[in-house]
Amino acid sequence: MSSGDAVVESISSLDMVRQAEFPVAERYTYLNHAALGPLPRRTADTISELAQDFRDKGVLAEAKWFGSIARTRALVSKLLNVSTAEIAFTKNTSQGLSIVAASLPWKPGDIVVTVKGEFPANVYPWLALQQQGVTVRYVRPRNGRIVLQDLEAALHGARFLAISWVQYSNGYRIDLDAVSKLCASRKVLLCLDAIQGAGALPLDLQATPVDFCAFGAHKWMLAPQGVGVLYVNQRVRDLLQPANVGWLGVDWRDYTAFDYDTPLSDTAARYEEGTRSLVGIAGLEQSLGLLLAVGQARIAQHLQQLTDQLAHQLMTMGYRIMTPLEHEHRSGILTFCHPQRSAQELFDALRAARIVGAVREGGVRLSPHLYNTRDDVDAVLNVLQV
Ligand SMILES: Cc1ncc(COP(=O)(O)O)c(C=O)c1O
Repeated sequence: MSSGDAVVESISSLDMVRQAEFPVAERYTYLNHAALGPLPRRTADTISELAQDFRDKGVLAEAKWFGSIARTRALVSKLLNVSTAEIAFTKNTSQGLSIVAASLPWKPGDIVVTVKGEFPANVYPWLALQQQGVTVRYVRPRNGRIVLQDLEAALHGARFLAISWVQYSNGYRIDLDAVSKLCASRKVLLCLDAIQGAGALPLDLQATPVDFCAFGAHKWMLAPQGVGVLYVNQRVRDLLQPANVGWLGVDWRDYTAFDYDTPLSDTAARYEEGTRSLVGIAGLEQSLGLLLAVGQARIAQHLQQLTDQLAHQLMTMGYRIMTPLEHEHRSGILTFCHPQRSAQELFDALRAARIVGAVREGGVRLSPHLYNTRDDVDAVLNVLQV
């Protein structure tokens, strides 16, 4: 644990975390973590330090920074409650999903199920399999909800389910426990795109097993762009024979003489190919250290409170909430629209007041994080009242 974590552990209030770590909040009411998370101060400082070290020392800087890879892998395994051997670093969600798509042994006639309205990162890797005779079947959400019975029907005869934990547009969180059990009972491989939840909500992959889980770290994980995670459940590792292999997929005993007979690593590092983004990983180490020190359950509870306040006030002001509000399906995302005013108009009004949100699927999407406050919610309501 870095000294920064000790500082945060001694900080009892999220307001103090805001002050210490999130200069962005001095400039904006930043409510767009579903698009891109701002870097915490410690993360930005570490990246600057790393850059200066590599500027001044070249390869001699590696000794100081290389340990970040193992430490960050350990933090990710703690976040997901899995073993470090099941974690590979990637550059983004798409790469993780593409590794899965390219490395499984598909047969003509195999059926992949996904959801209509998924973010395209979680559709294109599966569509590409059509060239191998794989069929892609969609489940259509009803009123923004992915209904378990519909999923069950769609999984009939299927081999694989690719689904987001949290839908990017309306923030609907699937019942992962139920989906995990459904897939296990049908012998369907379950691949989770977790980018819209990881870092904001607790995700325990021992309690709710999946086969694969991929996410980039630049949204709710508050890390730099260009670093992500692929989790491969060890029980399916042998099924996922890496389509791309490289020299860092091997655990070398000796880095000065390479014996080509050395097999690929037994761990998920076998999917890592070559040199990783040390900037990204060292940045992720800092951001994840902060998130874990504050606690995922605490962050989730905070987000529930903020989005609840927002939703209830907006409803009384005549807005329609597009996010399903059942507690068990909530996330850090709240999307809404107005019967008379376009989403773009609302977005522009917010932006003029230095409030950063997004327009998605005809609604305004707001996505607070741990350092946002009740005052931020009030700032939004003030603008949207008129
Ligand atoms: C559900 C989902 N998956 C994936 C991505 C992004 O994919 P990548 O990390 O490959 O850029 C996003 C958002 O940009 C998303 O909302």
